[in-house]
Amino acid sequence: MHSFHYKNASLHCEDVDLAALADEHGTPAYVYSANTIRDHYRRLDQALEGLDHGIEYAVKANSNLSVLKLLVDEGSGFDIVSGGELRRVIEAGGDPAKCTFAGVGKTREEIQYALKEEIYCFNAESEEEVAFISQVASEMGVNAPVAFRVNPNVDAKTHKYISTGKSENKFGVDFEVIEEAYARAAALPNITLRGLQMHIGSQLTSLQPFMEAVEKVSPLATKLKETYGIEFFSIGGGVGIVYDPALASGKPEWWADQDEEQKPLTIEQYAAGVMPVLKQTGLKILLEPGRYIVGNAGVMLTRCLYEKKGTAKTFRIVDAGMNDLIRPALYEGHHDIAPLKEPGDTAVTAVDVVGPVCETGDFFCQNRELPDFAPGEAIALLSAGAYGFVMASNYNSRGLPVEILVDGSVAKVVRPRQTMDDILASEIAAL
Ligand code: LLP
Repeated sequence: MHSFHYKNASLHCEDVDLAALADEHGTPAYVYSANTIRDHYRRLDQALEGLDHGIEYAVKANSNLSVLKLLVDEGSGFDIVSGGELRRVIEAGGDPAKCTFAGVGKTREEIQYALKEEIYCFNAESEEEVAFISQVASEMGVNAPVAFRVNPNVDAKTHKYISTGKSENKFGVDFEVIEEAYARAAALPNITLRGLQMHIGSQLTSLQPFMEAVEKVSPLATKLKETYGIEFFSIGGGVGIVYDPALASGKPEWWADQDEEQKPLTIEQYAAGVMPVLKQTGLKILLEPGRYIVGNAGVMLTRCLYEKKGTAKTFRIVDAGMNDLIRPALYEGHHDIAPLKEPGDTAVTAVDVVGPVCETGDFFCQNRELPDFAPGEAIALLSAGAYGFVMASNYNSRGLPVEILVDGSVAKVVRPRQTMDDILASEIAAL
């Protein structure tokens, strides 16, 4: 489901007119649909019915407190990657006992904080990290629950910057040596081996890599259960979303497997595929979805400032830049563009939609056929709910955009626009 549609020739989020929001709160602005988030969480939960499972929403995808609160109310657990994300979960009313802590570089302070808050488990990415967790836990006189992240060396067939499950990636412990790592960890003081984790990559649009990973790693999970009494196997996140409906029947250009005719994976197909293999482990299965839950639940609104006709190209310059939404620049990410005023039968023109930031990579699309929208008009960049605002920066001394949460006919600012005064307040002019 996603709740962005034209009503009375104007793009709406649920029952709220986005043009009115853009007028009232200015642009750039992120707008999220509460009901889409709830719907996606429930769809995944229902698709996993019959399997002993837990959903740990990956906070990094969208960590706004109001988004987290919605998921707390749905009963979600949380996958965190920093002390900061743990703090956010707690502020939103989430239960640390339902949190797993991932990431290759946890610091002493973060480990201490997570131990104090009694999180469910550390998902450790190296033996060195487990030895350090053991040391910190011993100093505090507590036991640390730990799972290793296994790197199964499976090709996720996604963009190289978001592929994590190959041996050349920095993540996890190699499949070949993981059993020895468990044996050594079992001998360390103040460590309880609680689970096994993996995550092979993000924005996966076919079942095959998930199946390959689950089939390869499940027997290991069963063995670890028998040897060390672990209680869970986390299969990570990674389920992709449809960014470009035009590609829904084809495949992104960076897909390695050119011959295979594939349609994007639905959450039901994903669950139906992995469940039979996972059930055999007899373990509690955890999932860490981020993008699937929030990706299509958000848009970024931006207003066209100028149309600049060059000799080679036409540029529509908008008031959002790569600092507000970096996915096109960083991952060649596609975001569909929809004018807030429903386009009629007007002809389309091939244009580059670009931002004001002084970088050639500051574009949202290149040579894309788009309906006319004139300077002064606002547009929406779709599917911006995941890895959108959370990756925004102050580059070019631009304030962070406002975030708005829509629930039915109610729209609430859940983070005000950052002003230049806010930015300057945290800086010290030393000279
Ligand atoms: N679990 C772990 C250990 C992860 O590293 C990630 C994402 C997830 C779960 C959630 O993955 P998801 O379900 O959202 O695919 N900024 C990039 C994506 C980076 C993903 C990092 N890890 C993008 O905009 O495409």
